[in-house]
Amino acid sequence: MRLTVIGTGYLGATHAACMAELGHEVLGVDVDPDKIAALRAGRVPFHEPGLPELIAQHTATGRLRFTTSYEEAAAFGQVHFSCVGTPQSKDSEAADLTYVDAVIENLGPLLPEGALVVGKSTVPVGTADRLAGRLAELAGPGAELAWNPEFLREGFAVADTLRPDRLVLGVRSARAEELLRAVYAPVIAAGTPVVSADFPTAELVKTAANAFLATKISFINAMAEVCEAAGADVSVLAEAIGHDERIGRKFLRAGVGFGGGCLPKDIRAFAHRADELGVSLAFLREVDRINMRRRDRVVELARDLCGGAVLGARIAVLGAAFKPDSDDIRDSPALNVAARLRLDGADVTVYDPQAMDNARKAFPLLGYALSAEEAVRGADVVLHLTEWPEFRELDPERLRTLAGRPRIVDGRGVLDAGRWAAAGWEFRALGRPA
Ligand code: UGA
Repeated sequence: MRLTVIGTGYLGATHAACMAELGHEVLGVDVDPDKIAALRAGRVPFHEPGLPELIAQHTATGRLRFTTSYEEAAAFGQVHFSCVGTPQSKDSEAADLTYVDAVIENLGPLLPEGALVVGKSTVPVGTADRLAGRLAELAGPGAELAWNPEFLREGFAVADTLRPDRLVLGVRSARAEELLRAVYAPVIAAGTPVVSADFPTAELVKTAANAFLATKISFINAMAEVCEAAGADVSVLAEAIGHDERIGRKFLRAGVGFGGGCLPKDIRAFAHRADELGVSLAFLREVDRINMRRRDRVVELARDLCGGAVLGARIAVLGAAFKPDSDDIRDSPALNVAARLRLDGADVTVYDPQAMDNARKAFPLLGYALSAEEAVRGADVVLHLTEWPEFRELDPERLRTLAGRPRIVDGRGVLDAGRWAAAGWEFRALGRPA
């Protein structure tokens, strides 16, 4: 089939490459000529394992191409995937739908009869219905809308797209469902469950899934707060409750909390949208507050370890990305903590295996090191805030000889406390006894 993918950011670039991998002819579309030039040259402007190889492979054969022209896209595609972002609005919790609307405004008037436009962005419930109305005004009754939310995780984007847990098809006609089933035929043949739904349900599946994941993380982080007060160990607690299959072990890692371009803004937008509908999702605001309190707690622990104030202290921060296997620093807990300590007068040095360029641009006042060892050299306190595998492999014995004072806070609950303590470190972790 001939597909277009509009928006070549994180979601769009991955979706375009994976649709080519499934055997389709794909045209990626973006209004940013620099992005398009980079992708044409096989350069992916963010870190995602496996994606550059896939893009290079399919641009080489010509099955995957890129353009800035909506005219070309409208003439080319049978199915058009809208993969643009829905960031948080500048002045409220609501999602900013400027880009989602712009796709329909730009593409709609150009579409021939029979075209299918498929929204993949995370949107407030009710958006698809509104967009379908606008599409009918712009393109006439021959063009149709469908909603097919995306559930990929950064760091696993290719695998999550080619082998998703489920496909959700929000459709209003048998024809739209048939077209989408044809697009995903190899994925469906491999056994992926398909859930057909109306528009509002399809939109809500996505926001509900992210709200549940965020709630699970904040639940265990709230338990970490209780553990801190009661002298208990949240990592043992999480393991023990996770053995109950109804609870499950995944997404129960206590630590400095969730960040990134999705969970934080999605729970805010969901709570806001629920208010508009006259339904209270107040608990999601508490989920958000618990999440933010974990960042406060790391700042507090750093202060305690420095004897009450961080002014003039040298602090090493291991990690800048919001999670490992990503160079994404949007709403990163690590950088938020680093910036606050810098504001309190600490001399902060950050190291991250992938996110250094992004961090430097966004936080130019922080110091940056080229390795974990360099960051730790002379430090009064080390903060482990993004769980890159290489940090787990660090040698506490060797680092003790480099650090000014051997004191570490494990903000992700994955370092071996016994090993660090045995090497002479004062070791503190969130939700675990000192
Ligand atoms: C999240 C969802 O997991 C995806 O299903 C969804 O498609 C995506 O948002 C989206 O809406 O686009 P992502 O933001 O890539 O994906 O990252 P996650 O793996 O969900 O991690 C989110 C944050 O939670 C990270 O900061 C991570 O460190 C933190 N986390 C995760 C914990 O603190 N504890 C855990 O047990 C798990």
